[in-house]
Amino acid sequence: MSIRSVFCFCLLFLIVVFSYQFYQVSLVSNSSKSYVRTKAPIHVLILSSWRSGSSFIGQIFNHHPDVFYLFEPGHPIWMRFKKEAAELLHYPLRDLIHSLFTCDVTPLQQYVPGDGKYISSMSFFAESRALCSPPSCSHPSTSEGYERSKCSKHCRNSTFDKMAEACNTYDHRVMKTVRILDFSVLLPLFQDPALDLRIIHLVRDPRAIVSSRRSFSLDIDDQIVLKQHDKDTKGPVMAKICRAQVNIYRMVKAVGDYLERRYLLIRHEDLSMEPIVCTKKIYEFSGLKMTPDLERWIYNITHDLIKHPSRFLAFSKQSSKVIQKWRNTLDFNKVKEIEEYCREAMDLFGYLPVSSVSDQKNMSLDLVLSSVEMDDPSETNMK
Ligand SMILES: *[C@@H]1O[C@H](CO)[C@@H](O)[C@H](O)[C@H]1NC(C)=O
Ligand SMILES: *[C@@H]1O[C@H](CO)[C@@H](O)[C@H](O)[C@H]1NC(C)=O
Ligand SMILES: *[C@@H]1O[C@H](CO)[C@@H](O)[C@H](O)[C@H]1NC(C)=O
Ligand SMILES: *[C@@H]1O[C@H](CO)[C@@H](O)[C@H](O)[C@H]1NC(C)=O
Repeated sequence: MSIRSVFCFCLLFLIVVFSYQFYQVSLVSNSSKSYVRTKAPIHVLILSSWRSGSSFIGQIFNHHPDVFYLFEPGHPIWMRFKKEAAELLHYPLRDLIHSLFTCDVTPLQQYVPGDGKYISSMSFFAESRALCSPPSCSHPSTSEGYERSKCSKHCRNSTFDKMAEACNTYDHRVMKTVRILDFSVLLPLFQDPALDLRIIHLVRDPRAIVSSRRSFSLDIDDQIVLKQHDKDTKGPVMAKICRAQVNIYRMVKAVGDYLERRYLLIRHEDLSMEPIVCTKKIYEFSGLKMTPDLERWIYNITHDLIKHPSRFLAFSKQSSKVIQKWRNTLDFNKVKEIEEYCREAMDLFGYLPVSSVSDQKNMSLDLVLSSVEMDDPSETNMK
């Protein structure tokens, strides 16, 4: 045989192998009759920190009918290893995220409390519309549309197998986490050809974060962030969180073009002031289409038009007012302290320090630079 025919034979062999694999894949995705996925999936990871509005941005995805969304998949890992440091827990979390993006739920089953059979062992399962609808949950009430409270009542007995089946029917898989403080652990995920990974990085004015953190107990999380049990951890925790946001941004820029195209920086304040414009940008980045229904829902939820909101949807208020709230709740010394801890993040993301108590309380004085005024972050992302 000539080299040429050997080459042709090899090529033919490879084509046969690949077609067979492809056929297998389509067989798998056909297993649930009426839910046939056709496109290669897109994977979106929302990175943020505690009390930065990430639940809301998550809901923007969760309400989209094409999205399989999971809220804080890392929570069971952190709750299981409370004595460990965030630096260590990054790795199981990264691997869990990887598995879940490919709809492999078996690692998650190991981390949740109990025997890992029912999705209700995840504290936040009802945050996911996809887990509250067929094929994950087929309770008759789920045909009336997604309602968190009904879901947590009627879908408790759905199994993780059903969750995997549901996941496979979606071509957009989205997760949000506040538990990644070091972007470099995620870099291997970009090497996997099975993932079309995109990062949305949500940041918020550190002073507003501190104000919002006051009404939540985050003791366990703070302990993992710092890996210590000090009484006075609040300042160091904020310093570390701010540093992490700066480092995420800088690492993306350092890796360069390839990553920058897969990265979208969003400021909570921009999302609050211009929810529709921002959401369109977020959807476009994620390969999703805005629908009139979603546009109405986003308008309503950011203009206090939807009643009985869950505590996760702090936005069901006049969202443009919420962003100023810290200016009345924090005292001036506290503000100066946070500005000191978080100076670099504030500089980078366009938050201005206050110079006096009267400046702090003067609401006509804008402390958030418009995105066009920001040096570097504005150029690529926030036109
Ligand atoms: C998958 O389902 C579609 C529509 O039901 C069908 O046309 C196709 O042949 C199926 N593919 C496989 C590999 O079974
Ligand atoms: C879940 O299963 C338990 C035990 O089999 C049963 O008692 C309960 O009614 C079920 N709940 C729902 C919502 O189906
Ligand atoms: C938005 O609010 C209006 C007025 O309250 C209501 O009629 C409409 O159904 C709401 N739309 C959505 C999608 O929730
Ligand atoms: C509040 O800020 C605005 C804008 O900088 C300024 O024009 C105004 O004089 C300030 N008001 C007070 C009471 O300081």
